[in-house]
Amino acid sequence: MKITKICCIGAGYVGGPTMAVIAQKCPHIQVTVVDLNEDRIKAWNDENTDNIPIYEPGLDKIVAEARGRNLFFSTDVEKAIDEAQIIFISVNTPTKTYGKGKGMAADLKYIELCARQIAKIAKDNKIVVEKSTLPVRTAEAIKSILDNTGNGVQFQILSNPEFLAEGTAVTDLLNPDRILIGGDSTSEGKEAIDALVEVYSNWVSSDKILTTNVWSSELSKLTANAFLAQRISSINAMSELCEKTGADVNEVARAIGMDTRIGSKFLKASVGFGGSCFQKDILNLVYIAKTYGLHEVADYWEQVIIMNDHQKRRFSSKIVQTLYNTVSGKKITFLGWAFKKDTNDTRESAAIYVADDLINEQAKIAVYDPKVSREKMLNDLNYLETRSLEKNTKAVATFENAYDACNGAHAIAVLTEWDEFMTYDWAKIYDSMQKPAFIFDGRNILNKEELKDIGFVYLGIGS
Ligand code: UDX
Ligand code: UDX
Ligand code: ADP
Repeated sequence: MKITKICCIGAGYVGGPTMAVIAQKCPHIQVTVVDLNEDRIKAWNDENTDNIPIYEPGLDKIVAEARGRNLFFSTDVEKAIDEAQIIFISVNTPTKTYGKGKGMAADLKYIELCARQIAKIAKDNKIVVEKSTLPVRTAEAIKSILDNTGNGVQFQILSNPEFLAEGTAVTDLLNPDRILIGGDSTSEGKEAIDALVEVYSNWVSSDKILTTNVWSSELSKLTANAFLAQRISSINAMSELCEKTGADVNEVARAIGMDTRIGSKFLKASVGFGGSCFQKDILNLVYIAKTYGLHEVADYWEQVIIMNDHQKRRFSSKIVQTLYNTVSGKKITFLGWAFKKDTNDTRESAAIYVADDLINEQAKIAVYDPKVSREKMLNDLNYLETRSLEKNTKAVATFENAYDACNGAHAIAVLTEWDEFMTYDWAKIYDSMQKPAFIFDGRNILNKEELKDIGFVYLGIGS
């Protein structure tokens, strides 16, 4: 089958960049990204590509090149489904906040709505691709809905998990480590797999395109994220031990990373991992394991989350303890709010939990983040439902630049590893602060010796 029309339901952090790159690399394919959220679609269509809703280095240029040529953003979900040969489902799958599996299982209501809508509209055979991270065997549920409510047309369900990381989405999409496609081993299944392989073959070499059965593909995505998160929790566990023993976690990470069996990536001790995937996917894995009665497996992976929660809490406790056991009325400046650099995404960011703890201790939080809006920060705190909206609004001040944010502060906490933090005039910041001037470097990115020479009391992670 020659693919000429693709649609993607969900114009978020995954759907938006992925489709932009497919459109750029496949000028012969018309790619339409649809979303229920009108504001989001409007922003994707903004004439000035600085205003597209997702900040990713390089994405604005790709959108500028392909948009209007063969890349379209629209709210007309039905038309896009009707016309497309391949439909990607890239809607959000948050952790359930109610009912059975609350706090653990993935909420599939948006996926189910999509499946029902596709079934209702499709008048010819379609390939439906799961792009969102989904629990194993979701494809089966989607298939059941499609086959039982459809108009008698044939659906092939493929699992094609996305491995891009935010902040590097464009380079990850252009040069993926691998593309994974799971599908049925029937001849129709193989045909569908081949059609999707051909799309990716426009820019990815064939040795990097893996095909598996649907369930291996679904489970591989959860496994990859669980392994990555586990490395961070492992090094973070060692960071606490390092602080007690006088070892330096950066030195330990370097030493073990040179073992080629271990490898050097994803060994940066930090205030804790965030992002929309790691916690959600592990909770999901734990839930699936429990569902099958595999309690040891569930407990093993759950420990990764427990360690991460501990690391966040440990960071806020260290701030309180160091500031003479009270931060009441003190100004604590956060540098960074995003869950990592080069993104405006804040989902599950450690900053939210550290701020929440410190506000409980009556601290005044001042925040500077180069890409995150005040509105988003307050939304993040309100979502925790720890206190009223009004109290959060009073407790958090936001600033347009770091120097103003740090002015008069008792302490600075680095929550995100933005590059610009390393280039500041730290002597100037020191002069404007209360003394002793404390820095809690939750990312180990600042120059410890330089800061100590200026007069700061510097506390990193794991040393
Ligand atoms: C280990 C470390 O590799 C080595 O660096 C250290 O100096 C001593 O401990 P060793 O115990 O000799 O070396 O062998 P290793 O190859 O690490 O295997 C240890 C066990 O793990 C074996 O039982 C092996 O069969 C098992 N293993 C290893 C697996 O089950 N799966 C694997 O993928 C690798
Ligand atoms: C992750 C996976 O990397 C990606 O493959 C998957 O598709 C989605 O989930 P993402 O969450 O966007 O991507 O970013 P990632 O770079 O993995 O970082 C996740 C969190 O871990 C961030 O908060 C980051 O700061 C933290 N982290 C990462 C560390 O604390 N230490 C490290 O060494 C690496
Ligand atoms: P991700 O990080 O997985 O891309 P996001 O939350 O950034 O998640 O994006 C998911 C998008 O999917 C949101 O913009 C949301 O409005 C959209 N969405 C959810 N359900 C539907 C639906 N049934 N039809 C169209 N769009 C949907």
